[in-house]
Amino acid sequence: MYRAARLVLCVCALLAERDAACFAQGVRAEAWPDPLVLADGRLVQTASAFEQDRRPEILRMFEENVYGKTPSGTLPLRVLRSSVEPNALQGHARRIQVTLAVGPRGERTWHLLLYLPRQEQQPVPVFIGLNFEGNQTVDPDPGIDLNPVWVADPALNGLHLAKELSRHVRVVPGQKTRGAAASQWQIEKIVARGYGVATMYAGEIEPDFIGGIGYGIRPLFFSGTQSLPLANDWGAIGAWAWGMSRIADVLSRDPQVDQHKLIAFGFSRFGKTALWAVAQDARFVAVVSSESGQAGATLSRRRHGESIDHLLIAFPYWFCRNYQHYLGRVEDLPVDGHLLLSLVAPRPLYVASAIDDPFSDPEGEFLAARAVSPVYALYGKSGISDRFMPALDHPIGSVVSYHVRPGGHDVTAYDWEQYLNFADRIFGNPVR
Ligand code: GCU
Repeated sequence: MYRAARLVLCVCALLAERDAACFAQGVRAEAWPDPLVLADGRLVQTASAFEQDRRPEILRMFEENVYGKTPSGTLPLRVLRSSVEPNALQGHARRIQVTLAVGPRGERTWHLLLYLPRQEQQPVPVFIGLNFEGNQTVDPDPGIDLNPVWVADPALNGLHLAKELSRHVRVVPGQKTRGAAASQWQIEKIVARGYGVATMYAGEIEPDFIGGIGYGIRPLFFSGTQSLPLANDWGAIGAWAWGMSRIADVLSRDPQVDQHKLIAFGFSRFGKTALWAVAQDARFVAVVSSESGQAGATLSRRRHGESIDHLLIAFPYWFCRNYQHYLGRVEDLPVDGHLLLSLVAPRPLYVASAIDDPFSDPEGEFLAARAVSPVYALYGKSGISDRFMPALDHPIGSVVSYHVRPGGHDVTAYDWEQYLNFADRIFGNPVR
């Protein structure tokens, strides 16, 4: 038994060594698209060459093959209502709720929730992230409006369907759902540390189920008689990322928000979304991606944890139709997780994993964060040089940071502690 366990450990160590070595030695292995080698084989050696040639090339490959292209046009965004509670969270925060009409005829209604620390005299940095099940879930604060959300049709109870494949209905959430995701948001902690947090229910941008497209913003961009997305049109992740940028637009009108300190945050599918938002919008000065996994921070080619095939079958609407070409052919994808991370450079990047979340492939996330180091080096910034994954609860890195904690797929108080330390570090605040 003991010998078998040692053998398994030994094989794991060898595999990890092989993966690490692949990046450590800068092996120009065909299998791993190199962030510093252009499609025509030329090596990128300067930050300006990266920005002029390689970065646009990588961005285009993600647009064409994974997330689809974000439309160049925009949609009217009108504030319908705005309410302010100056003494929210036991007097520690200002709570601002903004109702927006989106689209030429106000076809969609969005609800933005923003908390800002009350004591701060200066404009503050703000984390911007989407939530899964409504604004009321991010904190038990009874003042958060209960706006409609989409839920799997209760009439289908007992039918074993993945939630996203099920029929959905729009309901006003019950009081019981208040604060249901509070531990993943840690609003009080964020505010106490001098940061703001802005969030919106992703389902208002596009509901997260097959067929949700009809109720989201994508059709508002269709041209003429178009009724379906083209092969390289954006998917739901693209739409959600676009929505994050619109939140930044709204915040740009608030003098209490420091426009130079907007941090994108996202967990899981919204971790993928946050990375894609930051790749496209330079106003985000940093990003925190929590267990974004496959089609996020991790490396698809490793074939650990979730496969792209699973994504393609379970969540086809998250991506552009072209992504389907890679079903069973991950090795033909021209991009991978570390290239997505390279689109964040040279901005600060935090990748976080959980050891009991093998589906998101924690080691793949670590290797991708490591593999992006040569891009940061072009800008004179240090990436991650550690050869192996750090021990649990031992955050590493600085401009590029990484940690893996015990536990499963979640965002915890420990995670937020690290994200806030990271933010303090990048904004030069005293370390607490
Ligand atoms: C599914 C999906 C993952 C995703 C996760 C989430 O499990 O397969 O890719 O990250 O949902 O968003 O929680």
